Amino acid sequence: MTRLRLFDDADPSAPRSDTIDGDEIAARLGRIGVRFRRWPAERTLAPSSSDSEILAAYRGEVDRLLHERGDTTIDVVRMRHDHPQRDALRTQFLREHRHVDDEVRFFVEGRGLFCLHVGAVVALVTCERGDLIAVPCGVPHWFDMGARPEFTVIRVFANPAGWVPEWTGSNIADVFPRLESPQ
Ligand SMILES: [Fe+2]
Repeated sequence: MTRLRLFDDADPSAPRSDTIDGDEIAARLGRIGVRFRRWPAERTLAPSSSDSEILAAYRGEVDRLLHERGDTTIDVVRMRHDHPQRDALRTQFLREHRHVDDEVRFFVEGRGLFCLHVGAVVALVTCERGDLIAVPCGVPHWFDMGARPEFTVIRVFANPAGWVPEWTGSNIADVFPRLESPQ
């Protein structure tokens, strides 16, 4: 279920707000400069669907995104629970980092936890199928795909080099809830 929890960055013990209302999530994230939207993502993808078939299924949404953002590059990341590098990839993206370009993700299958560190606020966004999130360039963040990752995202870029991670060196991610944390 799509969910937003906002924390003070110095207090990971309990969120200061917690909501599953899509409009409220968009409004609260908008107030800290993060764009979030819910789009219908109802196409059924076969396990064997290729990246080009996935992009074709969501051509209308992808074209809209490219047009709105002026981006030129798209691709697909499909992660499954039996991916041989899942543990290493999970560990890598649990380290706080930033990019020189926005990080735009449209979830068309599964889920993942985006964690954004905006000033003194930590926003934990559980993204599900149909969620579109844009992490602004320069905003420190981390991502948890969980121990058994299952998600497909469409990514759009202005420049494929723009999302290369710049690690902050902070271990803040270690003290905040993970995708599968019970709270
Ligand atoms: Fe990132």
